[in-house]
Amino acid sequence: MPGTLLTDIGRLVTNVPGPGREGGPLGVLSDAAVLIENGRVGWVGARDDAPTATTTHRLGGLALIPGFVDSHTHIVFGGDRAEEFEARMAGRPYSAGGIRSTVAATRRASTSELGDRARHLLAEMRAQGTTTVEVKSGYGLTVDDERRLLQVAREVTDETTFLGAHVVPPEFADDPDGYVDLVVGDMLAACAPHARWIDAFCETGAFTPEQSRRILSAGAARGLGVRLHAGQLGAGTGVRLAVELGAASVDHCTYLTDEDVTALASSWGDGRIGTVATLLPGVEFSTRHPYPDARRLIDAGVTVAIASDCNPGSSFTSSMPFCIAVAVRDMHMTPDEALWAATAGGAAALRRTDVGRVAVGARADLVELLAPSHVHLAYRPGVPLVGRVWKDGIGTGLAG
Ligand code: NIG
Ligand code: FE
Repeated sequence: MPGTLLTDIGRLVTNVPGPGREGGPLGVLSDAAVLIENGRVGWVGARDDAPTATTTHRLGGLALIPGFVDSHTHIVFGGDRAEEFEARMAGRPYSAGGIRSTVAATRRASTSELGDRARHLLAEMRAQGTTTVEVKSGYGLTVDDERRLLQVAREVTDETTFLGAHVVPPEFADDPDGYVDLVVGDMLAACAPHARWIDAFCETGAFTPEQSRRILSAGAARGLGVRLHAGQLGAGTGVRLAVELGAASVDHCTYLTDEDVTALASSWGDGRIGTVATLLPGVEFSTRHPYPDARRLIDAGVTVAIASDCNPGSSFTSSMPFCIAVAVRDMHMTPDEALWAATAGGAAALRRTDVGRVAVGARADLVELLAPSHVHLAYRPGVPLVGRVWKDGIGTGLAG
């Protein structure tokens, strides 16, 4: 058969549960093989039943998992904020206002500098097993700058998000509603052709729930999917707003009321596709806010994703394995739950069924771990366990 056979897989995480598979939702197969054909998965099953193929890659008992789906990043920006991080580690609190210093540096940066930076971060991500990435604008905050950030983002991914409502820029400090008028007017018109999603930062120091509702509704009216930053620095009504508007995801969810948890849980069920709670472990790591309690969400029946939130302010990590390790250690997720959240959960947060799972017809986005199982991602934090990475069936990286 034409194609590439990956065989001698010790433990294969498919995220497709079924008879003969272990690990509940992870659908783990032991002694397995996967056939890659034309960039897609062509066959999955027991090693002894595998078809022959043009090329064979033996994993020698190592684990194979779906590529990570990082559903929340801000990788198009200028400058960095290492000094702000140093000050924070000395006790200064994180605030939304820090975004403005990156806005100034981003406006000064050329488009080619922004593209080089984004591609560099994307390469870091790929080397750590990320095969699908969402990228937001939000550090330009003028019509031309937001459009240019989205054009750069579109060069690295189809999952682009218009985040003109990241913070009110300094030139509108006295007229925040005037800025919202611009966002829902000319800025949205210029940016919508380059975006799949619309997002807003609904938080003290950024946008109110009323402003966020206006912005998200305007984006939805133009055909953009809805996502929202809420509950990062304190509880509010943003999470329930996201659920009410049918958002694919509400991200951060660090501070949640019981009503928020109930609303998130009841957005799913009876065949409905609801709102994913996307947790961002790198943010609490880097801001010293308390970690959200993932157990509370999962036990209530909420669908949870993990993403890196890679950005220069609140979480400058590109590493999904790092986020998994922190989620297990400090958010009380099991290693199985954390792996599901970083793969299938991210896919759900982007409303994608072609990624985040290893099934016939899905994209051949696969990661070889230099370990016997995915548990090692949390058990051996900080260790480079990602071997070869296949994106659309093309393999790069270390041979295992
Ligand atoms: O997701 N919370 C809003 N936006 C980013 C932080 C951006 C920044 O501090 O530059 C986030 O954490
Ligand atoms: Fe963010």
